[in-house]
Amino acid sequence: MPRLRGQVAVITGASSGIGTALARNLAKAGVRVGLTARRTEALESLAGSIQAWGGTAVVAPADATDRVSTHAAIERVASELGPIDLLIANAGMGLSTPADHFSADDVEQLVRVNILGVAYAVEAVLPPMLARGRGHIVGISSLAAYRGLPGTGGYCATKAALSALLESLRVELRPKGIAVTTVHPGYVRTPMTERANHRMPFLMDVEHAARIISRGIAARRSEVNFPWPIAGFMALVRLLPNSIYDRLSHALIGRRQTPPAGS
Ligand SMILES: NC(=O)c1ccc[n+]([C@@H]2O[C@H](COP(=O)([O-])OP(=O)(O)OC[C@H]3O[C@@H](n4cnc5c(N)ncnc54)[C@H](OP(=O)(O)O)[C@@H]3O)[C@@H](O)[C@H]2O)c1
Repeated sequence: MPRLRGQVAVITGASSGIGTALARNLAKAGVRVGLTARRTEALESLAGSIQAWGGTAVVAPADATDRVSTHAAIERVASELGPIDLLIANAGMGLSTPADHFSADDVEQLVRVNILGVAYAVEAVLPPMLARGRGHIVGISSLAAYRGLPGTGGYCATKAALSALLESLRVELRPKGIAVTTVHPGYVRTPMTERANHRMPFLMDVEHAARIISRGIAARRSEVNFPWPIAGFMALVRLLPNSIYDRLSHALIGRRQTPPAGS
């Protein structure tokens, strides 16, 4: 991925799972990475391993739901590494929101991390990117954005909102030299999916997922949807009339007891 060499990236949710694997992958490609999440120790250990093999990594802890600390973390990365070329808004959480235990508190928590957390990070990187006329914003959404899945409506709603937000930004920002990539993964083996007790077809290794995402970023693709069997299936499911979708999803999924929804 020679195109990415020397770029400065901020990766949110870098302390675990997809974020950690992406940080390693991009750092190996010569990207200088700013790592953010709440768990400082995990970030420091990741930065140490990247630095040990000659890469550049800066740790800037922040709670994604805190606008001020998110802005401060991104400013810190920019002051240490230079202007941000690439934002990877990956921090996210999964939570089941079944109808018979429905709580707006759960939905609020999901919205705060999965939507507002991304909006705060985008708000921090956009003005300098617009001033420079270049940059790349990547958001990790989910194939669960495609339709409302039973038992995890809160998660699906936040990922659908995220995909719509990124799509609007993509259209507006393209003529200004800024690319936007929306990533829709299926199931990836991470701490998030370790908590799930339902079937996860085509569960993918996190390193494999990180390679697919990194290639999509290098190619500045508008969307990266994987693995293809689930992405293709969900693309078809998206087109089904409600009468068929409702019966199909109830038969295939029913009401899930634990998070996440297609993650
Ligand atoms: N795994 C899957 O199957 C799958 C599929 C589709 C989409 N996704 C999406 O991929 C992204 C990464 O998920 P993952 O599977 O890698 O999960 P994960 O291992 O649980 O990682 C989630 C990351 O988000 C960070 N995070 C969560 N809440 C945060 C907060 N309030 N402030 C700052 N950071 C926060 C966590 O860091 P701290 O706890 O240290 O703050 C952690 O680094 C998420 O957006 C998820 O929705 C995952």
